[in-house]
Amino acid sequence: MDRIVVAGGRRLLGTVDVSGSKNASLALMAAALLGEGETVLRNVPRLRDVDGMLQILSALGAHAGFDPHDPHTVRILADPVDTPEAPYELVRKMRASFMVLGPLVARFGHGKVSEPGGCAIGVRPVDQHLKGLEALGAKTELSRGYVECRADRLRGARVVFDVSTVNGTQNVMMAASLAEGESVLENAAREPEVVELAEFLVRMGARIEGAGTGRIVVEGVPRLRGIEHRVAGDRIEAGTLAAAAVATRGDVLVRGVDPRAMEATLAKLRETGAAIDAADDSFRVRAFEAPRAVDVVTAPYPGFATDMQSQLMAVLTLAQGSSVVTETVFENRFMHVPELLRLGAEIAVAGRSAHVRGVERLSGAPVMATDLRASAGLIVAALAAEGETCVSRVYHIDRGYERIEEKLRGLGASIRREA
Ligand code: UD1
Repeated sequence: MDRIVVAGGRRLLGTVDVSGSKNASLALMAAALLGEGETVLRNVPRLRDVDGMLQILSALGAHAGFDPHDPHTVRILADPVDTPEAPYELVRKMRASFMVLGPLVARFGHGKVSEPGGCAIGVRPVDQHLKGLEALGAKTELSRGYVECRADRLRGARVVFDVSTVNGTQNVMMAASLAEGESVLENAAREPEVVELAEFLVRMGARIEGAGTGRIVVEGVPRLRGIEHRVAGDRIEAGTLAAAAVATRGDVLVRGVDPRAMEATLAKLRETGAAIDAADDSFRVRAFEAPRAVDVVTAPYPGFATDMQSQLMAVLTLAQGSSVVTETVFENRFMHVPELLRLGAEIAVAGRSAHVRGVERLSGAPVMATDLRASAGLIVAALAAEGETCVSRVYHIDRGYERIEEKLRGLGASIRREA
């Protein structure tokens, strides 16, 4: 099994290009099921999760794959879908695959998807997805680990989400696009990936207003068509690189991402003392001394992203003073803490909060990645630690970060992958 070995303590310096957003790509790939004719997605990252979604689309009968002439372009033709069933072996690896359910039932009248697995970061139910699809008139049935949804034609309805759910909002918004009549989604998630999906659907022919606010109104249309789209840069990858720059007191220009989509992250890093200059589709981050301690609470967008929590915590392990990191989106998202302790961090977890007392230095040690974002935090810490850190189970990282070690090497890090 692959490991990543980091010899830490080097300042990150230089310019790095962010890949396309993983989370946006996964939603857009599911949305391609809705379109007649081919959908072409550009700037798609080469990641295990993307491969997983391509496999699911293929299992459904769609023609789906990377363009042989362009390594970051995905082509999807959903017209031949004939088996609207997403099997457990594929779905369990990635929760986001549950997003095919809404499009399947909306366009083909029937979808069957295994109950998902994914990161081990809490219970992560899909009740809100189902509540929304049922409100649109889908008959759902749960049996033997599968969720089955049927409807001749969905009907517009009012859906009030009990929690802010990103993929739940996306799933129901996609389904509502092909429903008959108007749907109103209340307490909708406002993440940039929801907005990007809505804009994508509108270009396919959908009628959607309010994406980016808590109230999305969808006027269903009878059909949608495949289109071409360039996926936005990954704000979480960009934030991870920024955190790494701060932790190593570096000077890094991060390109290919809209800084406005990650204002909470950049604001927090500024609070630690980093200088951040934002441009249209890039930002430069510079840090000169030990970070200052800051408190942070994760929250749905536009709050501080839970997907950036472990990386910020890694920075705070080296801060002057004590910080409190509170996780409100997922339970059980402190699995990086025991690993950070192995590097010499001082952290005590009490309920949903982690109390981080900054130390002067971390020192390298063997650690284990436990989930996608936890492993990103470990890489950030390893880059700042003195000596060698070996991160095992890096397949978690490969789900979400494209060529991470290559990109960091380009910034002067000593990092390599071992088989
Ligand atoms: C998406 C992102 C993930 C990110 C998360 C929160 C993708 C592919 N993944 O995941 O990287 O960490 O948003 O920003 O886009 N919940 C329910 N019932 C549901 C659905 C969710 O109770 O039916 C709860 C979850 O358990 C969690 C909270 O809602 O506590 C937020 O989860 P959600 O926004 O749905 O996360 P995902 O969309 O799965």
